[in-house]
Amino acid sequence: MKALHCLSYGEPPELRIVETVEPAPGPGEALIAVEAVGIGGFDAVLLGGRYQERPEPPFVPGRELAGRVLAVGEGGDPALIGMRVAAISFKGALAERAVARCDHCLATPPDMDPATAASILSAYATSLYALETCGRMTAGETVLVLGGAGTVGAAAIDIARGLGGRVVAAASTTEKLEFCRSRGAELAVDYGDPHWRRAMTERLGGGIDLVVDPVGGTLSEPAFRSLAPGGRHLVVGFAAGEIPRIPLNLPLLKRASIVGVDWGGFMQTEPAANRALLDRLRDLFDSGTLRPVQPTVHPLSALIPLLDGFRNRRIVGKPVIQPDFGTAASARSIGKQQCGAGHERD
Ligand SMILES: NC(=O)c1ccc[n+]([C@@H]2O[C@H](COP(=O)([O-])OP(=O)(O)OC[C@H]3O[C@@H](n4cnc5c(N)ncnc54)[C@H](OP(=O)(O)O)[C@@H]3O)[C@@H](O)[C@H]2O)c1
Repeated sequence: MKALHCLSYGEPPELRIVETVEPAPGPGEALIAVEAVGIGGFDAVLLGGRYQERPEPPFVPGRELAGRVLAVGEGGDPALIGMRVAAISFKGALAERAVARCDHCLATPPDMDPATAASILSAYATSLYALETCGRMTAGETVLVLGGAGTVGAAAIDIARGLGGRVVAAASTTEKLEFCRSRGAELAVDYGDPHWRRAMTERLGGGIDLVVDPVGGTLSEPAFRSLAPGGRHLVVGFAAGEIPRIPLNLPLLKRASIVGVDWGGFMQTEPAANRALLDRLRDLFDSGTLRPVQPTVHPLSALIPLLDGFRNRRIVGKPVIQPDFGTAASARSIGKQQCGAGHERD
Protein backbone atom coordinates (compact mmCIF):
# COMPACT_ATOMS: atom_id res chain seq x y z
CA MET A 1 0.00 0.00 0.00
CA LYS A 2 1.00 3.64 -0.25
CA ALA A 3 1.58 5.77 2.82
CA LEU A 4 3.01 9.15 3.68
CA HIS A 5 6.18 9.02 5.73
CA CYS A 6 7.66 11.78 7.84
CA LEU A 7 11.41 11.44 7.27
CA SER A 8 12.47 14.31 9.50
CA TYR A 9 10.88 16.92 11.76
CA GLY A 10 10.86 20.54 10.74
CA GLU A 11 8.85 23.52 9.61
CA PRO A 12 8.24 22.21 7.01
CA PRO A 13 8.90 18.55 7.85
CA GLU A 14 10.36 16.26 5.20
CA LEU A 15 7.53 14.10 3.88
CA ARG A 16 7.49 11.44 1.19
CA ILE A 17 4.99 9.03 -0.29
CA VAL A 18 6.32 5.49 -0.03
CA GLU A 19 5.25 1.99 -0.95
CA THR A 20 5.09 0.06 2.29
CA VAL A 21 3.68 -3.07 3.91
CA GLU A 22 -0.01 -2.95 4.87
CA PRO A 23 -0.36 -2.99 8.67
CA ALA A 24 -1.88 -6.10 10.24
CA PRO A 25 -4.48 -5.50 12.94
CA GLY A 26 -3.11 -6.65 16.31
CA PRO A 27 -5.22 -7.91 19.22
CA GLY A 28 -8.24 -5.66 19.71
CA GLU A 29 -7.39 -3.59 16.63
CA ALA A 30 -9.28 -2.82 13.41
CA LEU A 31 -7.78 -2.51 9.92
CA ILE A 32 -9.39 0.47 8.20
CA ALA A 33 -9.45 1.56 4.54
CA VAL A 34 -8.76 5.28 5.01
CA GLU A 35 -11.16 7.69 3.31
CA ALA A 36 -10.31 10.98 4.99
CA VAL A 37 -7.88 12.31 7.60
CA GLY A 38 -8.52 15.28 9.88
CA ILE A 39 -5.63 17.71 10.27
CA GLY A 40 -5.22 19.89 13.34
CA GLY A 41 -2.88 22.08 15.34
CA PHE A 42 -1.61 18.90 16.97
CA ASP A 43 -0.17 17.69 13.63
CA ALA A 44 1.60 21.01 13.11
CA VAL A 45 3.16 20.85 16.57
CA LEU A 46 4.11 17.15 16.26
CA LEU A 47 5.60 17.36 12.75
CA GLY A 48 7.38 20.56 13.74
CA GLY A 49 9.13 18.51 16.45
CA ARG A 50 7.57 20.66 19.20
CA TYR A 51 5.34 18.01 20.83
CA GLN A 52 6.21 16.19 24.06
CA GLU A 53 6.29 12.90 22.12
CA ARG A 54 8.70 12.54 19.19
CA PRO A 55 8.15 9.27 17.31
CA GLU A 56 11.35 8.06 15.64
CA PRO A 57 11.20 8.84 11.86
CA PRO A 58 10.18 7.45 9.50
CA PHE A 59 6.60 7.35 10.72
CA VAL A 60 3.14 7.84 9.20
CA PRO A 61 1.68 11.24 10.22
CA GLY A 62 -1.97 11.97 11.05
CA ARG A 63 -4.06 10.48 13.84
CA GLU A 64 -7.69 11.23 13.17
CA LEU A 65 -9.36 9.37 10.31
CA ALA A 66 -12.56 8.08 8.80
CA GLY A 67 -12.90 4.93 6.75
CA ARG A 68 -14.37 1.50 6.39
CA VAL A 69 -13.32 -1.38 8.67
CA LEU A 70 -11.85 -4.23 6.60
CA ALA A 71 -10.87 -6.68 9.35
CA VAL A 72 -10.33 -6.93 13.07
CA GLY A 73 -7.53 -8.61 15.01
CA GLU A 74 -7.91 -11.24 17.73
CA GLY A 75 -10.46 -10.15 20.33
CA GLY A 76 -11.56 -7.19 18.19
CA ASP A 77 -15.26 -6.46 17.72
CA PRO A 78 -16.35 -8.39 14.55
CA ALA A 79 -19.51 -6.26 14.34
CA LEU A 80 -17.28 -3.40 13.14
CA ILE A 81 -16.30 -5.20 9.92
CA GLY A 82 -17.79 -3.35 6.95
CA MET A 83 -18.82 -0.38 9.07
CA ARG A 84 -17.81 3.21 8.45
CA VAL A 85 -16.02 4.58 11.48
CA ALA A 86 -14.27 7.64 12.80
CA ALA A 87 -11.12 6.50 14.59
CA ILE A 88 -7.89 7.57 16.22
CA SER A 89 -4.81 5.75 14.97
CA PHE A 90 -1.73 6.09 17.13
CA LYS A 91 0.19 4.29 14.35
CA GLY A 92 -0.58 6.93 11.70
CA ALA A 93 -3.53 7.76 9.48
CA LEU A 94 -2.13 9.23 6.23
CA ALA A 95 -1.95 5.91 4.42
CA GLU A 96 -4.23 3.79 2.29
CA ARG A 97 -4.84 1.53 5.30
CA ALA A 98 -4.48 2.26 9.01
CA VAL A 99 -5.02 0.40 12.25
CA ALA A 100 -6.82 1.68 15.33
CA ARG A 101 -8.02 0.06 18.51
CA CYS A 102 -11.62 -1.12 18.09
CA ASP A 103 -12.54 0.71 21.29
CA HIS A 104 -11.15 3.93 19.78
CA CYS A 105 -13.62 3.67 16.86
CA LEU A 106 -16.96 5.45 16.62
CA ALA A 107 -19.42 3.99 14.11
CA THR A 108 -20.52 7.07 12.20
CA PRO A 109 -24.14 7.95 11.41
CA PRO A 110 -25.14 6.64 7.94
CA ASP A 111 -25.76 10.13 6.56
CA MET A 112 -22.38 11.53 7.66
CA ASP A 113 -19.85 11.99 4.84
CA PRO A 114 -16.26 10.73 5.34
CA ALA A 115 -14.76 14.24 5.54
CA THR A 116 -17.08 15.25 8.38
CA ALA A 117 -16.50 11.88 10.06
CA ALA A 118 -12.72 12.49 9.95
CA SER A 119 -13.15 15.87 11.60
CA ILE A 120 -15.28 15.09 14.63
CA LEU A 121 -13.88 12.40 16.88
CA SER A 122 -11.00 14.03 18.72
CA ALA A 123 -12.57 17.49 19.05
CA TYR A 124 -16.06 16.30 20.01
CA ALA A 125 -14.96 13.51 22.36
CA THR A 126 -12.51 15.89 24.05
CA SER A 127 -15.16 18.60 24.40
CA LEU A 128 -17.82 16.22 25.70
CA TYR A 129 -15.33 14.66 28.10
CA ALA A 130 -14.29 18.16 29.23
CA LEU A 131 -17.74 19.63 29.72
CA GLU A 132 -19.77 16.66 30.96
CA THR A 133 -17.30 14.27 32.58
CA CYS A 134 -14.72 16.70 33.97
CA GLY A 135 -16.78 19.89 34.23
CA ARG A 136 -20.13 18.39 35.29
CA MET A 137 -21.84 20.99 33.13
CA THR A 138 -25.60 21.38 33.52
CA ALA A 139 -28.16 23.09 31.28
CA GLY A 140 -28.40 26.83 31.80
CA GLU A 141 -24.74 27.28 32.77
CA THR A 142 -22.59 29.86 30.98
CA VAL A 143 -19.54 28.48 29.15
CA LEU A 144 -16.61 30.55 27.89
CA VAL A 145 -14.77 28.84 25.03
CA LEU A 146 -11.27 30.18 24.28
CA GLY A 147 -9.98 29.68 20.73
CA GLY A 148 -13.60 29.28 19.63
CA ALA A 149 -12.75 29.06 15.91
CA GLY A 150 -10.16 26.31 16.49
CA THR A 151 -10.84 22.60 16.15
CA VAL A 152 -11.56 21.89 19.82
CA GLY A 153 -13.11 25.32 20.36
CA ALA A 154 -15.66 24.94 17.56
CA ALA A 155 -16.70 21.51 18.88
CA ALA A 156 -16.90 22.86 22.44
CA ILE A 157 -19.27 25.63 21.28
CA ASP A 158 -21.48 22.99 19.64
CA ILE A 159 -21.45 20.66 22.66
CA ALA A 160 -22.04 23.44 25.20
CA ARG A 161 -24.93 24.75 23.11
CA GLY A 162 -26.29 21.21 22.64
CA LEU A 163 -26.18 20.60 26.40
CA GLY A 164 -28.31 23.68 26.97
CA GLY A 165 -25.54 26.10 27.90
CA ARG A 166 -25.20 29.79 27.24
CA VAL A 167 -22.05 30.08 25.12
CA VAL A 168 -19.53 32.88 25.02
CA ALA A 169 -16.67 32.37 22.57
CA ALA A 170 -13.40 34.23 22.39
CA ALA A 171 -11.07 34.42 19.39
CA SER A 172 -8.60 36.71 17.66
CA THR A 173 -10.08 38.09 14.44
CA THR A 174 -13.34 39.43 13.06
CA GLU A 175 -13.65 36.43 10.75
CA LYS A 176 -13.11 33.99 13.62
CA LEU A 177 -15.62 35.84 15.82
CA GLU A 178 -18.19 35.66 13.04
CA PHE A 179 -17.48 31.91 12.72
CA CYS A 180 -18.08 31.48 16.48
CA ARG A 181 -21.40 33.28 16.25
CA SER A 182 -22.39 31.12 13.28
CA ARG A 183 -21.64 28.05 15.42
CA GLY A 184 -24.04 29.17 18.14
CA ALA A 185 -22.10 31.50 20.43
CA GLU A 186 -24.43 34.06 21.94
CA LEU A 187 -21.53 36.44 22.50
CA ALA A 188 -18.17 36.50 20.71
CA VAL A 189 -15.29 38.45 22.25
CA ASP A 190 -12.02 39.54 20.65
CA TYR A 191 -9.31 38.62 23.15
CA GLY A 192 -6.84 40.76 21.22
CA ASP A 193 -8.52 43.67 23.05
CA PRO A 194 -6.60 44.14 26.33
CA HIS A 195 -9.92 44.90 28.09
CA TRP A 196 -11.70 41.82 26.70
CA ARG A 197 -12.55 40.39 30.13
CA ARG A 198 -14.23 43.55 31.36
CA ALA A 199 -16.10 43.97 28.06
CA MET A 200 -17.28 40.35 28.29
CA THR A 201 -18.51 40.48 31.90
CA GLU A 202 -20.24 43.83 31.33
CA ARG A 203 -22.10 42.45 28.32
CA LEU A 204 -22.93 39.21 30.11
CA GLY A 205 -24.00 40.87 33.33
CA GLY A 206 -22.54 38.03 35.38
CA GLY A 207 -19.79 35.46 35.80
CA ILE A 208 -18.84 32.39 33.84
CA ASP A 209 -19.56 28.85 35.10
CA LEU A 210 -17.09 26.95 32.91
CA VAL A 211 -14.07 27.89 30.82
CA VAL A 212 -12.96 25.55 28.01
CA ASP A 213 -9.28 26.42 27.57
CA PRO A 214 -7.37 24.83 24.67
CA VAL A 215 -5.16 27.94 24.27
CA GLY A 216 -3.33 28.74 27.53
CA GLY A 217 -0.70 31.49 27.45
CA THR A 218 -1.74 34.91 28.72
CA LEU A 219 -5.47 34.17 28.24
CA SER A 220 -5.89 31.59 31.00
CA GLU A 221 -5.58 33.86 34.02
CA PRO A 222 -8.10 36.51 32.91
CA ALA A 223 -10.45 33.69 31.89
CA PHE A 224 -10.09 32.07 35.32
CA ARG A 225 -10.70 35.43 36.99
CA SER A 226 -14.03 35.63 35.10
CA LEU A 227 -15.40 32.54 36.85
CA ALA A 228 -18.36 32.78 39.22
CA PRO A 229 -18.13 30.97 42.59
CA GLY A 230 -18.18 27.22 41.95
CA GLY A 231 -16.80 27.74 38.45
CA ARG A 232 -14.58 25.20 36.68
CA HIS A 233 -11.65 26.06 34.41
CA LEU A 234 -11.09 23.12 32.06
CA VAL A 235 -7.44 22.90 30.99
CA VAL A 236 -7.46 21.29 27.53
CA GLY A 237 -4.27 22.44 25.82
CA PHE A 238 -1.70 25.12 25.16
CA ALA A 239 -2.07 26.15 21.53
CA ALA A 240 -0.45 29.50 22.39
CA GLY A 241 2.70 27.53 23.24
CA GLU A 242 3.08 28.97 26.74
CA ILE A 243 1.94 27.04 29.81
CA PRO A 244 0.32 29.58 32.16
CA ARG A 245 0.89 29.68 35.92
CA ILE A 246 -2.17 30.54 37.97
CA PRO A 247 -1.53 31.82 41.55
CA LEU A 248 -3.20 29.36 43.93
CA ASN A 249 -4.86 32.11 45.92
CA LEU A 250 -7.18 32.60 42.92
CA PRO A 251 -9.01 29.23 43.18
CA LEU A 252 -9.35 29.87 46.91
CA LEU A 253 -10.67 33.43 46.55
CA LYS A 254 -12.94 32.53 43.63
CA ARG A 255 -14.07 29.20 45.17
CA ALA A 256 -13.40 27.84 41.70
CA SER A 257 -11.54 24.78 40.39
CA ILE A 258 -8.88 24.09 37.80
CA VAL A 259 -9.63 20.74 36.16
CA GLY A 260 -7.22 18.88 33.87
CA VAL A 261 -8.73 17.37 30.70
CA ASP A 262 -6.77 14.62 28.95
CA TRP A 263 -9.06 12.65 26.65
CA GLY A 264 -6.06 10.80 25.17
CA GLY A 265 -5.13 9.49 28.63
CA PHE A 266 -8.78 8.73 29.46
CA MET A 267 -9.35 6.71 26.27
CA GLN A 268 -6.22 4.64 26.88
CA THR A 269 -6.70 3.95 30.59
CA GLU A 270 -10.50 3.84 30.98
CA PRO A 271 -11.79 1.94 27.92
CA ALA A 272 -15.22 1.14 29.38
CA ALA A 273 -15.87 4.74 30.40
CA ASN A 274 -14.57 5.93 27.02
CA ARG A 275 -16.96 3.51 25.26
CA ALA A 276 -19.83 5.05 27.23
CA LEU A 277 -18.58 8.52 26.24
CA LEU A 278 -18.47 7.56 22.53
CA ASP A 279 -21.96 6.01 22.76
CA ARG A 280 -23.24 9.21 24.33
CA LEU A 281 -21.57 11.21 21.54
CA ARG A 282 -23.20 9.03 18.89
CA ASP A 283 -26.61 9.57 20.57
CA LEU A 284 -26.08 13.34 20.46
CA PHE A 285 -25.27 13.15 16.73
CA ASP A 286 -28.19 10.81 16.01
CA SER A 287 -30.67 13.05 17.83
CA GLY A 288 -29.52 16.06 15.81
CA THR A 289 -28.39 17.83 18.99
CA LEU A 290 -24.92 18.39 17.53
CA ARG A 291 -24.26 20.15 14.24
CA PRO A 292 -20.62 19.62 13.23
CA VAL A 293 -19.15 22.23 10.95
CA GLN A 294 -18.65 21.13 7.34
CA PRO A 295 -14.86 20.70 7.01
CA THR A 296 -12.84 22.01 4.09
CA VAL A 297 -11.47 19.15 1.97
CA HIS A 298 -7.93 19.14 0.54
CA PRO A 299 -5.61 16.86 -1.42
CA LEU A 300 -2.50 15.38 0.19
CA SER A 301 -0.35 18.05 -1.47
CA ALA A 302 -2.02 20.69 0.75
CA LEU A 303 -0.60 19.20 3.94
CA ILE A 304 2.40 21.53 4.23
CA PRO A 305 0.35 24.72 3.65
CA LEU A 306 -2.20 23.44 6.19
CA LEU A 307 0.49 22.85 8.81
CA ASP A 308 1.78 26.34 8.10
CA GLY A 309 -1.77 27.74 8.43
CA PHE A 310 -2.19 26.20 11.88
CA ARG A 311 1.19 27.53 13.00
CA ASN A 312 0.25 31.03 11.85
CA ARG A 313 -3.33 30.96 13.24
CA ARG A 314 -4.81 31.37 9.76
CA ILE A 315 -7.10 28.32 9.88
CA VAL A 316 -10.79 28.84 10.55
CA GLY A 317 -12.80 25.67 11.13
CA LYS A 318 -11.52 22.19 10.36
CA PRO A 319 -9.52 20.97 7.33
CA VAL A 320 -9.56 17.37 6.19
CA ILE A 321 -7.33 15.59 3.67
CA GLN A 322 -8.77 13.02 1.32
CA PRO A 323 -5.57 11.14 0.47
CA ASP A 324 -5.06 10.90 -3.29
CA PHE A 325 -2.00 8.68 -3.29
CA GLY A 326 -2.45 7.71 -6.92
CA THR A 327 -2.10 11.22 -8.29
CA ALA A 328 0.10 12.82 -5.66
CA ALA A 329 2.59 9.98 -5.91
CA SER A 330 3.90 11.31 -9.19
CA ALA A 331 5.31 14.33 -7.38
CA ARG A 332 7.08 12.00 -4.91
CA SER A 333 7.96 14.65 -2.41
CA ILE A 334 4.98 16.32 -0.73
CA GLY A 335 7.33 18.65 1.11
CA LYS A 336 8.57 20.27 -2.09
CA GLN A 337 5.12 20.96 -3.51
CA GLN A 338 3.59 24.38 -3.33
CA CYS A 339 -0.16 24.30 -3.01
CA GLY A 340 -2.53 26.96 -1.77
CA ALA A 341 -5.12 25.97 0.80
CA GLY A 342 -8.39 27.66 -0.12
CA HIS A 343 -9.77 27.75 3.38
CA GLU A 344 -7.06 30.03 4.73
CA ARG A 345 -7.66 33.71 5.16
CA ASP A 346 -5.03 36.05 3.69
N1 LIG B 1 -6.51 17.52 26.39
C1 LIG B 1 -6.97 16.83 25.35
O1 LIG B 1 -7.53 15.76 25.50
C2 LIG B 1 -6.80 17.44 23.98
C3 LIG B 1 -7.47 16.90 22.86
C4 LIG B 1 -7.32 17.54 21.63
C5 LIG B 1 -6.49 18.66 21.53
N2 LIG B 1 -5.81 19.11 22.64
C6 LIG B 1 -4.97 20.29 22.59
O2 LIG B 1 -5.79 21.44 22.47
C7 LIG B 1 -5.05 22.47 21.84
C8 LIG B 1 -5.89 23.05 20.71
O3 LIG B 1 -6.09 22.05 19.72
P1 LIG B 1 -6.91 22.39 18.41
O4 LIG B 1 -6.90 21.14 17.61
O5 LIG B 1 -8.19 23.03 18.76
O6 LIG B 1 -5.96 23.47 17.72
P2 LIG B 1 -6.33 24.54 16.62
O7 LIG B 1 -7.40 24.06 15.74
O8 LIG B 1 -5.02 24.97 16.04
O9 LIG B 1 -6.95 25.75 17.47
C9 LIG B 1 -6.20 26.42 18.46
C10 LIG B 1 -6.65 27.86 18.56
O10 LIG B 1 -5.77 28.47 19.50
C11 LIG B 1 -5.63 29.83 19.18
N3 LIG B 1 -4.22 30.24 19.34
C12 LIG B 1 -3.78 31.21 20.15
N4 LIG B 1 -2.46 31.35 20.06
C13 LIG B 1 -2.03 30.46 19.14
C14 LIG B 1 -0.76 30.15 18.61
N5 LIG B 1 0.36 30.79 19.02
N6 LIG B 1 -0.66 29.18 17.67
C15 LIG B 1 -1.77 28.52 17.26
N7 LIG B 1 -3.02 28.77 17.74
C16 LIG B 1 -3.15 29.74 18.67
C17 LIG B 1 -6.10 30.03 17.73
O11 LIG B 1 -7.25 30.84 17.75
P3 LIG B 1 -7.12 32.44 17.75
O12 LIG B 1 -6.26 32.84 16.59
O13 LIG B 1 -8.53 32.87 17.62
O14 LIG B 1 -6.50 32.82 19.07
C18 LIG B 1 -6.51 28.63 17.25
O15 LIG B 1 -7.72 28.66 16.54
C19 LIG B 1 -3.73 21.86 21.39
O16 LIG B 1 -2.75 22.21 22.35
C20 LIG B 1 -4.01 20.37 21.41
O17 LIG B 1 -2.84 19.61 21.62
C21 LIG B 1 -5.96 18.52 23.84
